Amino acid sequence: MGNKGNFFYVTTPIYYVNDVPHIGHAYSTVSADILARFKRLSGFNVLFLTGTDEHGLKIEKEALSRGISPKELANNVHIKFKELFKSLDISFDRFIRTTDDDHIKTVQKVFSELLSKGDIYLSDYEGWYCTPCETFLTEKSLINGNCPECGRPVEKIKEKSYFLRLKKYEAKLLEYIDNNPDFIKPSFRKNEVVGFIKEGLNDLSVSRTSFKWGIPISEDNEHVIYVWFDALINYLTGAGYLNYQRDDKYNKDNENNFINYFGSLHHVIGKDILKFHTVYWPIMLLALELPLPKTVFAHGWWLMDGKKMSKSLGNVVNPVEVVDIYGEDPLRYYLMREVTFGLDGDFTLKNFTTRYNAELANDLGNLVSRLLAMVKKYRNGVVPVSSEINADLIDYALNLRDSLDKRYENFEFSKILEDVFFFINKVNKYINDSAPWKIDVNNETENKFLDSVLRSSIISIYYISYFIYPFMPGTSNKINFMLNVKLFSDGGQFLVPDDIFKEGFKILDETVMLFPRLNISGSKS
Ligand code: MSP
Repeated sequence: MGNKGNFFYVTTPIYYVNDVPHIGHAYSTVSADILARFKRLSGFNVLFLTGTDEHGLKIEKEALSRGISPKELANNVHIKFKELFKSLDISFDRFIRTTDDDHIKTVQKVFSELLSKGDIYLSDYEGWYCTPCETFLTEKSLINGNCPECGRPVEKIKEKSYFLRLKKYEAKLLEYIDNNPDFIKPSFRKNEVVGFIKEGLNDLSVSRTSFKWGIPISEDNEHVIYVWFDALINYLTGAGYLNYQRDDKYNKDNENNFINYFGSLHHVIGKDILKFHTVYWPIMLLALELPLPKTVFAHGWWLMDGKKMSKSLGNVVNPVEVVDIYGEDPLRYYLMREVTFGLDGDFTLKNFTTRYNAELANDLGNLVSRLLAMVKKYRNGVVPVSSEINADLIDYALNLRDSLDKRYENFEFSKILEDVFFFINKVNKYINDSAPWKIDVNNETENKFLDSVLRSSIISIYYISYFIYPFMPGTSNKINFMLNVKLFSDGGQFLVPDDIFKEGFKILDETVMLFPRLNISGSKS
């Protein structure tokens, strides 16, 4: 049931195509996917955008070093991201490339709008540039002559450049931050942003003349547009800004829903790109007189065994390899369960396999397989009807369900999983304590008790399947398949268990293994 009135727009950062994807990219994307899936389940109209950032000096240099054109590089690498997202079960609505036609037109349109309004003007730039970070830097911000963000060498540049007026919107931005406590999350990041703005904003250089790999300015094709100005606008392109006519606002809105989606915009990003999303981007939107994002959530960074991941250390976790060995759901689960969203985390194979074996294979996998086996053994696959449903279990499930909206709003992914697994173990304990295998089926009272235990547990795993769906959609679908229940996967919704498990309802005979047990080296046994 689509809820016509509710819109939810969620985005990931768009990823540079200078290199193949790594675990950090998987992280941003999986978390946005979880939100998208939860909102769809809750009946929202969801727009979920991800994609690749394909212009700029960094890409041009990388292509040159490989002896191919930047477009060829982008064509090759963007496929790797698409493949990764497919293998991770990412339910994006659009994979945008900044070389897409509609995006190029949108960027040029925005640039022209701001130029004609006087918010963009031509002047001279003299200063420093960090190519790996694609960032302009002032002399005084350098640390030992290097980039303060990544520590790498910077280049001196002096060229004509267009500038975006930032100062003009400083007060408005601070006011927005102040009035919207949900704008910057986690809230501890807010001070960092406010501090930066209060130091005073210099107008931002938004064009370059010394290389070619970028979107040309329609009015002055000596210049290509600064890659971050170009990249941020993907969020406008993806929502259909190109077709949005201010003069004919109301009619057009109804046609393409641009304003509906854009008015409920949620960005998931890494903490390193916070300034771009909470200072430059909102100022671009203020200048365009468009609504500002509802939330920019900055997640932390993954380390590998306590060290920063880097090519030179050779310790970059390749998500494709992890998925090949363990499957997509265990990776999605681990990323979301291991670390409080917003903080840094440490990826270790040891913790990964421990969680896999203990929580996934044992707690969840065994619960489902032994319960379904019992329904088959004692009741021929028919889910018994019983008026005695275990209140403790059902109350826990209902309370958890009622708390979800708030928790997702606060991006409390690990906490949600913690509580779901607490519930899983509650059901495990309930079955152990009830010991159905000891029940005398010839005794009427005991037999009724068995009905109650089986039905209460089946309803519980139906809830569990609903709870885990956004995190582990494949596993949830497998559980539903075995339960003989069709839902979630195609945007269907949670149904009241009593409406499904009616008199005579049969689960499937077929069994699917959820999580094969792993030994410590990671191979399935
Ligand atoms: N192209 C820009 C974003 C433009 S958005 C309009 C960019 N791309 S990126 O490919 O370098 O990084 C994309 C995201 O990956 C960032 O949010 C970054 O924080 C995240 N990660 C990169 N390495 C990471 C880890 N080791 N751990 C977690 N996330 C990290 O920036």
